[in-house]
Amino acid sequence: MKQSFLWGGSISAHQCEGAYNEGGKGPSIMDYVGVGSKDKIRQVYSHIEEGVVYPNHTGIDFYHRYKEDIALFAEMGFTALRISIDWSRIYPQGDDVVPNQEGLNFYHKVIDELIKYDIEPIVTLYHFEIPIHIVHQYQSWYNRQTIDLFVRYCQTVMKSLKGKVKRWITFNEMNHIDLDSPYSDTFTYILTGLRCSQFNDKKEFEARVSYHISLANAKVVKMAHEIDSSNQVGCVFGITPFYPKTCHPLDVMKAFEDSHKDLYQLDAMTKGEYPKYKLKEYQKLEINLDIRSEDINDFQEGTIDFIGVNYYCSEVSSFDDSGEKAMFGGYFNPYLEETKWGISIDPIGLRYVLNMLDRYYHLPILITENGIGLNEKVEDGYIHDLSRIDYLKKHINELNKAIEEDSVNCIGYLVWGPIDLVSATTGEMKKRYGFIYVDKDDEGKGTYKRIKKDSFYWFKDFLSQQKRSHK
Ligand code: BG6
Repeated sequence: MKQSFLWGGSISAHQCEGAYNEGGKGPSIMDYVGVGSKDKIRQVYSHIEEGVVYPNHTGIDFYHRYKEDIALFAEMGFTALRISIDWSRIYPQGDDVVPNQEGLNFYHKVIDELIKYDIEPIVTLYHFEIPIHIVHQYQSWYNRQTIDLFVRYCQTVMKSLKGKVKRWITFNEMNHIDLDSPYSDTFTYILTGLRCSQFNDKKEFEARVSYHISLANAKVVKMAHEIDSSNQVGCVFGITPFYPKTCHPLDVMKAFEDSHKDLYQLDAMTKGEYPKYKLKEYQKLEINLDIRSEDINDFQEGTIDFIGVNYYCSEVSSFDDSGEKAMFGGYFNPYLEETKWGISIDPIGLRYVLNMLDRYYHLPILITENGIGLNEKVEDGYIHDLSRIDYLKKHINELNKAIEEDSVNCIGYLVWGPIDLVSATTGEMKKRYGFIYVDKDDEGKGTYKRIKKDSFYWFKDFLSQQKRSHK
């Protein structure tokens, strides 16, 4: 592993910060969502109702405790932390005339704190934090006008943080605008504030959102390079490899199509044009997109510098469309174990994904998320999360093979949720990912005290060995 290899973690604003109505922040889509579970979809409310628990309102109180948390990340030896900026802290309504300086100041303070410890801040500009006003007034990413609002917000942030941040990420996992999953409605809400079930023509909804975010990505990449030529901009994809259930050619074809659902936006962001095969598909479905001549230049000039990949699991594809579906619309793999939340554990899948991306796209790859959600209890002040250690060891082992044996150009590994935080899909606290336990439960009760788990000491030790091997 090169000395410059980034080791650290990834968090997002809406899952950590809390302080949902402080510092001039406006309401954003995740402020309206309650707590769910594996079998109970999170309810979306049209108003903030008395007596309902909204887990994102308090998050893990990172807004007030970021110094303590960053000190813990530094103690483990992190060299990078991926955070997200909440659009609704910068432009509370999304279309306000001037930005909210208090919001910008908050992110300056967080980033200064990271820099103080030599932790590189990697900033995601959109991790599901769109102001609700943009959803109500403009229909979110379904409307082309949202692109301009997003570009303006990114410009404000990039100019303000110029010189402090070098690696930016436009979007997190917009490829999950996927209509085949049992969670489609939840996913589309989390990504856009709109549920696909609201739309008669769901395919048209998917096509418009994907086109608009791909174009927005291109415009922001181009602008970022103009603002500072040393800016590196990537986009994050949640990549789930789909394995054919059998060697029947139809299963193989289905696996290809399922895997490609995660990749066509990536094609749009790396190849200088919106994929022709997708435009053809839209044409066949009689979907008319508002495509303008200037878009051609934007796609050409705004290709990303690196690929961010969130890797959690693999699934199985079969042309025989029956049986219980897993989270991303495929089937469960009898050869793999699953977590309590039905996510398969497949370290080899990580090597597969890294090789596939490396050979198709020839761009540096940053693993922006990988981790395991476990329901953990404190026992006499300790959390013995041995299965997390085992999970991470096995994934890092496959990562090593990808780099050392397969020559994959991977530039870093960031663990999702280095500190327990609110689950995106279920809103639970008990789906814990962290090296650091946070004393808060699903009802929002607890002291918010931070406790180091066994994995904290393991990762700290692992990172100091990495450092020593470069001396
Ligand atoms: C990723 C998202 O898809 O998965 C994170 O980028 C999310 O925001 C993570 O938290 C894990 O999913 P969940 O639903 O367990 O929080």
